[in-house]
This record gives sequence, structure tokens and C-alpha cells, in this order.
Amino acid sequence: MKRKRRTSSDIVEETKRSTMLSDRDLESIRHWIMNMKRKSKNKLRLKYTVIGSGKTRIVYDLENGYVVKVALSKKGLTSNQKELHLYNRCSRRLRKHLCPVIEYGNGWIIMKKISRIEKLTEEYEKKLPRLRKKFLKEGIEARSLRSKNLAISSDNRIIVIDYGSFRYDD
Ligand SMILES: Nc1ncnc2c1ncn2[C@@H]1O[C@H](COP(=O)(O)OP(=O)(O)OP(=O)(O)O)[C@@H](O)[C@H]1O
Ligand SMILES: [Mg+2]
Repeated sequence: MKRKRRTSSDIVEETKRSTMLSDRDLESIRHWIMNMKRKSKNKLRLKYTVIGSGKTRIVYDLENGYVVKVALSKKGLTSNQKELHLYNRCSRRLRKHLCPVIEYGNGWIIMKKISRIEKLTEEYEKKLPRLRKKFLKEGIEARSLRSKNLAISSDNRIIVIDYGSFRYDD
């Protein structure tokens, strides 16, 4: 029998629980997301160290080689969804440039931990237009390719760690 293709909604279904986050963590995030608009009164308290934060998401180090990104706003929720969809739907040649998504739930996404680049050297700056073109060829506009959103793999490939602002037809 032919296996049904896994869709991102299957993944959402499968990861209502998490292999990495405890029920307590999930409950904190759920509470946070539900009350996001009143966030000043409702601090998100997770026991992990914050490894980074952007305009729309806060990122915690799970200290097992993975990070969890939690939405700070509606835009953060969209960014998480976009990353999940794109990672699961794009071609293999593009996926090589995207930080792997491992699990996903309401308001959170777990990704592989990859150290971002401190400063974009000339060598990598030169590689960016080619990378943009590679995505465009498949109808994806790779936006925000800045050093804080990028990492370099051990074999010198550019890896995007924040592709929540990429534009593509769903
Ligand atoms: N996979 C990862 N591994 C290690 N650190 C990460 C990872 N993803 C994100 N970070 C860190 O967290 C920061 C914020 O994450 P991210 O860029 O995804 O959030 P954002 O709110 O979408 O950002 P922006 O302000 O660019 O829209 C990054 O700049 C980086 O320092
Ligand atoms: Mg970012």
C-alpha cells in the first residue's frame, strides 16, 4: 500500500505533546499564547536559558542540541507556522539551507540548535545572491538574510535559522 504523504497538519497533530518539553512547559506556553495580548502581566517562565530573541519570538536553549522558539506576538505565530510548512514542503536542495524543524505545537517550534554567525564575512556575503536565486527559482522569496538569521554548517553551507519572513505561495 502506498504510504500517505505526511503533511504539516499531521505533524501538528502528532506534536500536541512533545518529546522534549514537559507537560508543565507546554502548559506555560499554552497559557502565554492564550494571554499574549496581556503579556506584561503574564510573564512566560520557562526553566531554560534564553539563547536569543527577535522582534516576534523568544528562543530558549533546551540544552540537548535543540532550541524552542516561542511566539511573542501574532506575527511570531505566523513565523512559526511558515517555518514548519516551508521546511516540510520545500525541495531537498533548499532544505539543506534551512535549520531543521523537529517538533511543533501551538505557539512553539523546536529546531536544531545552530550557532548563528557573528558577522557576515565577504565570502558568505558573496554567496547570498546565489542562495536568494536558488529559493526564487522555486517561488520562494528569501527575505531577511542577515547575519543574526544565518549560520554556517560544518561543510561551509549557509543555513537560515530564521525563515519566518520568507514569502511563498501556500
Ligand atoms: N536554531 C537556532 N539555533 C540557535 N540560535 C537560534 C536559532 N534560532 C534562533 N536563534 C537565536 O534567536 C534569535 C531570534 O530568533 P529568530 O530570528 O528566529 O526570531 P524572530 O523574532 O523571528 O527574529 P526577527 O527579529 O529577525 O524577526 C536569533 O537571532 C538567534 O540568535
Ligand atoms: Mg530573526
